[in-house]
Amino acid sequence: MSEKSETKVYTLEEVNKNKTSQSIWVVIHNKVYDVTKFLDDHPGGEEVLLEQGGANATESFEDVGHSSDARELMKDYLIGDLAEADWETSIKTNTGPNAPEAPSGSNLAQWIIPTIVALGVALLYRFYIAGN
Ligand code: HEM
Repeated sequence: MSEKSETKVYTLEEVNKNKTSQSIWVVIHNKVYDVTKFLDDHPGGEEVLLEQGGANATESFEDVGHSSDARELMKDYLIGDLAEADWETSIKTNTGPNAPEAPSGSNLAQWIIPTIVALGVALLYRFYIAGN
């Protein structure tokens, strides 16, 4: 009875209209939260919420490492789900997917592959020149 409006679906466009202290929504894990009334009470300050307002705040929210208390608390501000069609878009407009990258491994691969290719090209070139 009391949770009748919780399954409402919002598009990113609708969420994006709510980004001022008058009305501020954020998307966290594809769920939409109306944090307007929470601005004054947020231990992390209203500024960070205003910064993320109207957009996908999942990464920032996870970067802070919010406690399980915080995760309990956010349920009070849940107003609905993000439209499935917007799931990807909203992640892309932020800095990237949630999966953290292997820091040194991927860096290594990033320069080793071009180095091998460059060496191969140099060798081929030498053979070619020497052979003619
Ligand atoms: C409905 C959404 C949110 C709720 C309920 C919430 C709740 C809380 C709570 C309870 C804390 C105190 C520390 C803890 O218990 O983890 C906190 C701290 C904080 N929050 Fe949020 N938060 C929300 C969204 C966000 C978002 C979107 C950001 C974006 C950057 C953010 C940034 C921070 C920061 C920077 C702190 C301070 C951490 C510190 O001082 O160590 N929060 N939040």
